[in-house]
Amino acid sequence: MNDLSALPADFVWGAATAAYQIEGAVDEDGRAPSIWDTFSHTPGKIDGDDTGDVACDHYHRTAEDLDLMKALDLDSYRFSIAWPRVMPQGGGAVNPAGLAFYDRLVDSLLEAGITPNATLYHWDLPQAQQDRGGWPERETAERFGDYAAVVAEALGDRVKDWATLNEPLCSAWIGHLEGTMAPGWTDLTAAVRASYHLHVGHGLAVQALRAAHSDVRVGIVNNLSPCEPATDREADVAAARRADGHTNRWWLDPIHGRGYPQDMVDLYGVELPIKDGDLESIAAPLDWLGLNYYFRNVITDDPTGPAPHAKSVYLPGVRRTAMDWEVNADGLEQLLVRLSEEYGVGKIFVTENGSAYRDTVGADGQIDDPERIAYLDEHLAACARAVRRGVPLAGYYAWSLLDNFEWAYGYDKRFGLVHVDYTTQKRTIKGSGRRYAEIIAAYRRKA
Ligand code: NOJ
Repeated sequence: MNDLSALPADFVWGAATAAYQIEGAVDEDGRAPSIWDTFSHTPGKIDGDDTGDVACDHYHRTAEDLDLMKALDLDSYRFSIAWPRVMPQGGGAVNPAGLAFYDRLVDSLLEAGITPNATLYHWDLPQAQQDRGGWPERETAERFGDYAAVVAEALGDRVKDWATLNEPLCSAWIGHLEGTMAPGWTDLTAAVRASYHLHVGHGLAVQALRAAHSDVRVGIVNNLSPCEPATDREADVAAARRADGHTNRWWLDPIHGRGYPQDMVDLYGVELPIKDGDLESIAAPLDWLGLNYYFRNVITDDPTGPAPHAKSVYLPGVRRTAMDWEVNADGLEQLLVRLSEEYGVGKIFVTENGSAYRDTVGADGQIDDPERIAYLDEHLAACARAVRRGVPLAGYYAWSLLDNFEWAYGYDKRFGLVHVDYTTQKRTIKGSGRRYAEIIAAYRRKA
């Protein structure tokens, strides 16, 4: 087993999920559709035309899923709250039955000795809010602030760790520019405006959370990737710098008080609808930063492609997951060091890290997943290396607790430490889940 002795004594061991990916029960107890219900029900958008209608049926199986968390001996569970359950129309009326689900979940977690870490927005914008313009419009940021205030008031007495947004890059760039996530647009102006209003919403949510309970610890979760030039040609080096701007700096600079990177503002050529006070609110100091890490990018110039005119090359001869993503744990170490050294981040959680592989259920009913175990081991070793280099890493959340609805890829891509049979909803802890429990136990013996 890896030497993880560098990790701090109070290191948090967790696993993560997100509402639309696991809950199902999409029309129960007053939930209204989100943009992901609309998108997944649009033929051709999702592999196999899968939807999140049932997903892991977690809404009805919370008790069983809590037992799984206990079996893995997790310190913390990262989940998201579905805005369309709490404020089904985006703004306006609150749906108490929707809030009650999370109220029960939080109480059950605390009873089990598992610390909740809640994300306010993991991509499920109420469709009604989309119909009023969605993230390209400022109104959505304002309604997000209202929703944050309602949730903070209801749960902030017991939930202390909060993330405002999960991977705003995906909402803005994949949802509005590449079009392969909800709402499925391909419009640079809308994408840039969406990115800006996501940040405005983040700032308003930080204020709302702290106003409701002054002892909450607030963060944001970004997915970052090192962007390395494929060759030392000047055009590739410049492309990698643009890709880094698009993927990393655009999402890090403004929340650290540096404003939006000017090279990218110039490249997009879209005016940011900045109002007085916005940049200060976006840059409110946070208690922690969440890093979701999956892969690195190797970049080549793509002058005729969409912004940022840079594309990833497919390196031959490297290990890949079922997502076709390169396995590269050094990239995690590198990003952690960058957050600490370049941005001065004082507390970091790896809020997601994990891998999809083609799992098969053996004759004995077990799931043997040595590749996922190797991925886990290598990335935890990278975390320990980063800590040895002085990075203030406070915890690690495996993605994911359960196999679940992998967005445009549907149910075919399995990231879980726990296998889900979608016909029977039977859960089986995989070899990697057992391994994770062993790692946690071994660490506790030493700590
Ligand atoms: C990050 C996203 O937050 C999560 O929803 C997704 O399932 C994983 N990446 C894997 O793609």
